[in-house]
Amino acid sequence: TKPFQVAIDGPAASGKSTTAKMVAQRLGFDYIDSGAFYRCITLAALSKGINPSDPATVGQISEIAEQCKIGLQTVFAKPSETVSSGEEGVFQKLTCLPTTRVFLNSKDVSSEIRSNNVSQHVSAVAAIRNVREAVLQKIRSIRARENNNNNNNNNNKQDSDNTPNLSSSQSQSIVVSEGLVMDGRDIGTVILPHADLKIFLVADSRIRAERRLQELVKNGLDPTLNKLDVDTVQRDLQRRDELDRTRKVSPLRKADDAMVLDTSNLTIEGQVDVIVQEVERRR
Ligand code: C5P
Repeated sequence: TKPFQVAIDGPAASGKSTTAKMVAQRLGFDYIDSGAFYRCITLAALSKGINPSDPATVGQISEIAEQCKIGLQTVFAKPSETVSSGEEGVFQKLTCLPTTRVFLNSKDVSSEIRSNNVSQHVSAVAAIRNVREAVLQKIRSIRARENNNNNNNNNNKQDSDNTPNLSSSQSQSIVVSEGLVMDGRDIGTVILPHADLKIFLVADSRIRAERRLQELVKNGLDPTLNKLDVDTVQRDLQRRDELDRTRKVSPLRKADDAMVLDTSNLTIEGQVDVIVQEVERRR
């Protein structure tokens, strides 16, 4: 049977990836972070000294997008590990967030791609038609390979370039996953236009900025050293959203059949519950 597809789109820092990962974990579904592809291509360009904001670099960046190899691996939390905390079931609500590792040409770039420098240039890269085409092809071939591997019952096999299979779950015993959660900007409109459930996450931009700053601090960033405050983060988010919304190819847009979920006053657990219940209702 066809896997159940969940598409989650929305503006920057609306909580898409945390929500998507937790939904995937709760349901035993695969997870694909589509933004990671654009971030990897941006990182590859920046590390070659290319300035993505210069329109003259479009050709070079398109070539990088076609040639680079990108792999994702999502490691889901093991329920058994957390039972030792003494409170059964707590794992779903607390610390054990699934983690995604991202590989660019076999190198682990999971933290590098989240840097401020990459965030500032990624929307320019994602607006390039050939880049979007290359990402679409990469996601398609990964899905095809996953389906193949599932059929062959060996979905933890490594690729020949030594990049782990995208979204293979190391600690789960599920071999054939029953569904897929993907998050981004054009999942419901372009990548998975026939998704079984489409969610468009929104939240007040001030609240999104506060959440993003908290996340950066939690990951070790010193706001004073980096001259970052809520106002600056909010401006950066709004600038990126504006670029994503107004670009010609696959702009950020709610699919007509998407359910809007405003997370301004919801907790992560709350929004995950809403989506999981909606999946259960529809499947
Ligand atoms: O989701 P994340 O913030 O990691 O995405 C980074 C950037 O990648 C977005 O601002 C957007 O420019 C681009 N993107 C996109 N289409 C997607 C996912 C991400 O254009 N499906």
